[in-house]
Amino acid sequence: RGAKLIGCGSAVPELSVSNHDLAQIVETSDEWIFARTGIRNRRVLSGAETLTGLAVEAAKKALDMAQVEPDDVDVILMCTSTPDDLFGNGAKIQGDLGCRNAWASDITAACSGFVSGILKATGLIRGLGLKNVLVIGADALSRYVDWRDRGTCILFGDAAGAVLVQACDMEEDGLFGFDMHSDGEGHKNLKATLTTEEHAILSKTNGSPSFPPHRSSYSCIQMNGQEVFRFAVRCVPLSIEKSLELAGIKSSSIDWLLLHQANQRIIDSVATRLEIPGGRVISNLANYGNTSAGSIPLALDEYVRAGKVKVGDTIAMAGFGAGLTWGSAIVRW
Ligand code: ACO
Repeated sequence: RGAKLIGCGSAVPELSVSNHDLAQIVETSDEWIFARTGIRNRRVLSGAETLTGLAVEAAKKALDMAQVEPDDVDVILMCTSTPDDLFGNGAKIQGDLGCRNAWASDITAACSGFVSGILKATGLIRGLGLKNVLVIGADALSRYVDWRDRGTCILFGDAAGAVLVQACDMEEDGLFGFDMHSDGEGHKNLKATLTTEEHAILSKTNGSPSFPPHRSSYSCIQMNGQEVFRFAVRCVPLSIEKSLELAGIKSSSIDWLLLHQANQRIIDSVATRLEIPGGRVISNLANYGNTSAGSIPLALDEYVRAGKVKVGDTIAMAGFGAGLTWGSAIVRW
């Protein structure tokens, strides 16, 4: 039993924040940001916008392109590290989409979330015989950015993207060659960890445990940019080479390289290492920055709708980021 991608969609918030806007609040410049990252603008959730709203909009577009009715969706995988609800975002999206027969679940793997979701969708189709799996990658890292920290606030934006993965005959199979990794030793280099504070009202000070125990929240994103950069340019090409080997495909046969959109210098370095020319490298981070789990499906959707990625094209896709986690997949559009 095979699996293939048959529809995509994306959505971004209305508010656009330029490098010039950021230069008003931190000591930076458009020149510095663009030269170091390739980013010029990012979209940020504002007003009544929610991550759920973006995810639903992206998913509706994907279902529309796939010509699949909401009731025919078996599973919704919501890949996000910044859900609107601590208990998970997938079920709310399932309700809002009207996918009455779908089981929904969340996947938390930061910027590798979408590739993890594609891998799990493929497993559900091949292993459990399911037919339609909606994979959504969506994040709102703007919620966890310290807007006084010029080392991180310039990088991130908010977005959602979605694809519909459908069962098919083996001859049409379009998802192959997965390679996934985690390295918890590298967690210290990129994190937004739980912080707890004593509950103000009832905490005891006589040395006995306090009750209620704690009130919790998450810290802003803390990152060692240079270490993360080094990790990405070292590990991502190796992972793609492994996926290509498993898929039995040479990098010269790849139509598109689609990396998580974190930094143009990372994308260029990986492309050079794999000897993939610039014309076959997907990039839209100038307009959106690093949108975490949203970046790969957002870029895919833009290139598909622009007619650049065509039916039958082979794409080497890779995500990498917090965890640390990284992984790749070879897919056919
Ligand atoms: N504007 C101006 N100067 C700045 C800025 C800024 N926005 N940010 C840092 N600087 C300064 C630093 O203070 C430093 O100054 P100093 O030399 O006087 O100390 C100098 O610029 C160089 O700083 P570096 O941190 O060494 O700059 P670098 O070239 O490494 O670029 C960057 C920083 C862009 C963050 C880069 O390291 C990077 O992109 N790393 C990868 C990050 C990434 O992709 N993270 C996301 C992973 S995905 C996920 O899971 C969330």
